[in-house]
Amino acid sequence: MAATKETKREQTELSEAEIAVHWKEEGYYEPSPRFIGQANLTDPDLFEKFSLDHFPECYRAFGDLLSWDKYWTTTLDTSKAPFYRWFVGGMLNASYNCIDRHLAQHKNKAAIIFQGEPESEPPVAITYQELYARVNEVAALLRDFAGLKAGDRVTIHLPMTPELPITMLACARLGVIHSVVFGGFSGEASGQRIADSASRVLIGMDGYWRSGKMVDHKPAADIAYETAKREGKPPEKVLIWKRYKDRYSSQAKLVEGRDYLIDDLLPKYRGERVAPVSLPADHPLFLMYTSGTTGKPKGIQHNLGGYLAYVTAMSKYYQDIHPTDVYWCMADIGWITGHSFIVYGPLALAATSVIYEGVPTFPDPGRTWRIAEHLDVNIFHTSPTAIRQLRKLGPDEPKKYHYRFKHMTTVGEPIEPEAWRWYYHTVGKDEAVIVDTWWQTETGGFLCSTTPALHRMKPGSAGPGVLGIHPVILDENGNEVPPGSNRAGYICIRNPWPGLMATIWGDPDRYLKTYFQKYNKNPKSTDWRDWPYLAGDGALLAPDGYFRILGRIDDVINVAGHRLGTKELESACLTVPEIAEAAVVPVADDLKGRVPEIYVALKPGITASDEIKQKVVQAIETQIGKIARPKTVWIVPDMPKTRSGKIMRRVLASISNSMPTGDTTTLANPEVVEQIRVSVQGARPAVTKEGPADIRAFGQTE
Ligand code: PRX
Repeated sequence: MAATKETKREQTELSEAEIAVHWKEEGYYEPSPRFIGQANLTDPDLFEKFSLDHFPECYRAFGDLLSWDKYWTTTLDTSKAPFYRWFVGGMLNASYNCIDRHLAQHKNKAAIIFQGEPESEPPVAITYQELYARVNEVAALLRDFAGLKAGDRVTIHLPMTPELPITMLACARLGVIHSVVFGGFSGEASGQRIADSASRVLIGMDGYWRSGKMVDHKPAADIAYETAKREGKPPEKVLIWKRYKDRYSSQAKLVEGRDYLIDDLLPKYRGERVAPVSLPADHPLFLMYTSGTTGKPKGIQHNLGGYLAYVTAMSKYYQDIHPTDVYWCMADIGWITGHSFIVYGPLALAATSVIYEGVPTFPDPGRTWRIAEHLDVNIFHTSPTAIRQLRKLGPDEPKKYHYRFKHMTTVGEPIEPEAWRWYYHTVGKDEAVIVDTWWQTETGGFLCSTTPALHRMKPGSAGPGVLGIHPVILDENGNEVPPGSNRAGYICIRNPWPGLMATIWGDPDRYLKTYFQKYNKNPKSTDWRDWPYLAGDGALLAPDGYFRILGRIDDVINVAGHRLGTKELESACLTVPEIAEAAVVPVADDLKGRVPEIYVALKPGITASDEIKQKVVQAIETQIGKIARPKTVWIVPDMPKTRSGKIMRRVLASISNSMPTGDTTTLANPEVVEQIRVSVQGARPAVTKEGPADIRAFGQTE
C-alpha cells in the first residue's frame, strides 16, 4: 500500500514537466530580399503539398533528389510500425550519390577544403575527381586488404581531417556500415562502441593538432583495442592514418600483425576503381552512438535511402546550399551534425564543404573569421556554445574581416536571444538569414526550423516543423497542449519521416520503449498515426506556431551541444573503489549551456579527500573523455533518497543551481538536503531563483 502511494506521488511530480514558463516573446527579423531572391525554397505552397493529407507520397520529392540504380516501388512500408521502411524496392549507393554523379559537371570543383589548425599550413582543396580517386583506392584497400564486405561494421575514431570523410565514403561505397566515434572521446569509449557494434576493423590516426599541440591519438586505438578485447570483441585489424604522409607522428608503437599504416599500404591500390555496391534503400548506412537514460550508449542506426534523401533535402531547402556556395559547418564529423551537414548532405548536392581541424579561437579569436574571409565562405553553421565563446573572446572580431555570409545555422542547444542577436548583427552583419535547427542524432536531419526565405526569424525559438514534419506538444496523459497556452510539455512528431533512425543497433526493444511506448495505445497497430515519436525534449508552442525548445526531460545533459548520459558518468564514478554512490546533475553555465556536477558518497570508513575527487575526474576522462569533465565533485555524507531508496537527483540539481529544492519532507533522509546545501551553497552566492525548465524537470524520470 505504502509503495503504491509513493509511486503515485512520484507520478504527480512527473507532471511538473508541464510547468508554466515565463517566456518573454521576442520580436521578428525578416530575411533579406537578396537572400530570398536566390533561395532554393520560396514556394509557400510546398507546405500544403507536405501536409499530412499527402503523407507519405510527398516524400517522393526528397527521394527524387538522389540517383537510384533501381527506383523504389513503395514510398513507406508501415507493416512493422514503428520500424519503418522507406523507398522500399529502391537500390542505390551513397558514395555514388556524393561523388560519381557529380563528375560529369563538377569534377574540377572543390568537394572538400581542408584547413589544418597550424596557420602556416595553407588550405588544401580536394576536387570531386580527387575525392573519387582517393575514396576508390581506400575502398579497394578495405575490401582487399581488410576483407570487408557489405554489412560488416567498422569503427572510425578520427579527428577532423579529410581522411575521415574519405574513410566514411569508402565504407559507404562497399556497403560497410561505419560507426564514427567523436575524436575527443577516450579510447575506452571507442572500445565500448567497437564491442557493441562488433566492428571488424578499427580505423584511427597517429596524431592531430588541437590548440597548438599535436595530440598523440594512436594510444587511443591501443586502449580501444584492449577494451574491445576485454568485452570479447577485439577487431581483426587496426588501420592507422598518418596526419603527415612523410612521417609517423605518434610515440605509440605499431603492434605487428594487428596495426597497419594506411598511407603505407595505399600505393598498392593506386589507380584502383571499385564499382559502388548497389544496395537496398533500407540497408544500414551507419551507426552513431549517443547517450540516453540508461548507462549504455545506444547505436542509432540510419539506413541508406531514407537518411540520404532526407539530409540532401534539408541541405538544399534549409541550408540553402547551391553548387556554387562555399559552405562551412564547424561541427565535428564525429557527431550527427557533421555526418548529415558536413559530409552526406552537402556532398550529395555537389557543394564545397570546409573542414577545419582545430579550435575556432586558436591562436586568437579572429581565426574563424580569417578562414571565412580567405575561403570566401558564404554559408556558416555552428553551435550556441561556439557563438558564446567567439563572442566572449572577440566581440568585435568579425567586423575586421571581409567575409559575407548569406546564411547561418545554430544547432545543438537552445540559444539565448542575446547570443542570437550578436550572431545576427555582428557575425551575420545584419544580412545573413539565421536558422535555429532543432533535431537529434535519432532524427537524421532537422525537425523544427524556420524556412530561411519564407519565415520570419524569432530569436530563441527554433520555429515551426520543417517541410513534412508535424510536431505536437503532449502532456503527461497524451493530451495536446494548445499553442499559446504557455505550458510546456513533451514535444513529439506525429508522423514518421525518411531521416528517422531505423532502430537501435542490436536493441529494437529499447527503440520501441524509448521513443514510442509513452504515447502508443495499440502496440499491434500498423498505422503510423498510432505512433507519435517522443523526442525527449520539453518545449513550448507560441501562438505563431513557433516551437521553443527547453531542453532534455530525460537524464541527458547537453554540454556544449553534446549529449552526455548521466548514468554513463555515474558508472564511471563507481569504478573508483572508494565511491559507494554517485549522482550527476546539470549546472547552468554561461558558455557551455550545461556542465555536469558530481555528487559522491564514500564507502564506510573512507575519509573524504581531494585525492578521491581527483580520481573521480580521472575516471570520467579516461572512460568517456575530457568533454565530460565535471565542474565540481562534491563529497556528501549521504544522497537524498526517496523512501524506496532512489536518489533524488532533482533535489541535488536544485542545490547545484541555487534553485529552491521544493518539498523534501517526504524523503527518507530530509536532513541531509540541508547539510548538502550548506556545503555547496556556502561556496556560492545564495540566490534563489526559479531556474531553467530543463533543470527543474531533471531527474523526473527516476
Ligand atoms: O535537447 C535537444 C538539443 O540537443 C538534443 C539532441 O542532441 P544530439 O542528438 O547530440 O544532436 C545534436 C545535433 C542535432 C536535443 O534533444 N538540441 C538540438 N538542437 C537544438 C537543441 N535544443 C535547442 N535548440 C536547438 N536548435
